[in-house]
Amino acid sequence: MELLDIKRKNPQLSRIIKKMYKYVSLNNYITFKLRAIKKFLKKLFFRMTKNNNIVENLLLNYEILDSGMILENHLRIILTNLKKILDENIDGDIVELGCNAGSTSLFIQRLLNIYKSNKQFHVYDSFEGLPEKHNEDMNNEERQYKLGDCKTKKEILINNSKLANIKLPKIHVGWFGKLPDAEYPKKIAFAFFDGDFYTSIIDSFNKVYPRMSTKSILLIHDYKWDVLPGVEKACVDFLKDKPEKESIVYNNRIGVMIKK
Ligand SMILES: C[S@@+](CC[C@H](N)C(=O)[O-])C[C@H]1O[C@@H](n2cnc3c(N)ncnc32)[C@H](O)[C@@H]1O
Repeated sequence: MELLDIKRKNPQLSRIIKKMYKYVSLNNYITFKLRAIKKFLKKLFFRMTKNNNIVENLLLNYEILDSGMILENHLRIILTNLKKILDENIDGDIVELGCNAGSTSLFIQRLLNIYKSNKQFHVYDSFEGLPEKHNEDMNNEERQYKLGDCKTKKEILINNSKLANIKLPKIHVGWFGKLPDAEYPKKIAFAFFDGDFYTSIIDSFNKVYPRMSTKSILLIHDYKWDVLPGVEKACVDFLKDKPEKESIVYNNRIGVMIKK
């Protein structure tokens, strides 16, 4: 409304704004096209060199949902670690705490399909967005997450799986800490925590850590990211009296912990 008023009262400014819009959309269009060309060339190169790297092929052949929740590099790390678990046949199921609309879940399920794995994939979400912030989540950054952010619907996750034509994971609706223990698998081989806030990560640990098999892998999204400081703090606090204390390796905003 305010912008409309400014435009009406100042036609010259309105013209400048229009030009800026055009410039930005042209830039976006060029970036989009360049990305598509890069992908096409990479695909061609992979075919010519008969490269059968499963993870890279998945990333090349499927688009990432535009939910803005996960980056290609993050997926690469997640899938590479999950592949290790499948190759080594570590005992237990797969869990994702904080699945949202399924940007990561779809890729996890695709990799499980390639392996014809009989591991059950469980995903968890309140579908109410983020909970209340804890003191440990406070930061001085411009970017802020708050109560209710990242809210989506279970139906959107289901629809995304249907559109992608892949099997639905077992969906558990509720707050991680409040869901009964029976909703978590008895043994876990691979876990992905993406709950963003301190209490969400502590609750995830409380439910998942005791069920993790030896040599299973836990990945924590947004680890050591200044915007979400509660994530790293929760890891440090939870692991302070565990054998995995200070063992988290960090790569590209993803923390990797191997269960001892
Ligand atoms: C960043 S999004 C997850 C993104 C998802 N992993 C992906 O790759 O698209 C965080 C999700 O965690 C959920 N969430 C956060 N804390 C939670 C909690 N304590 N219990 C249940 N769900 C929670 C939110 O509802 C939100 O959908």
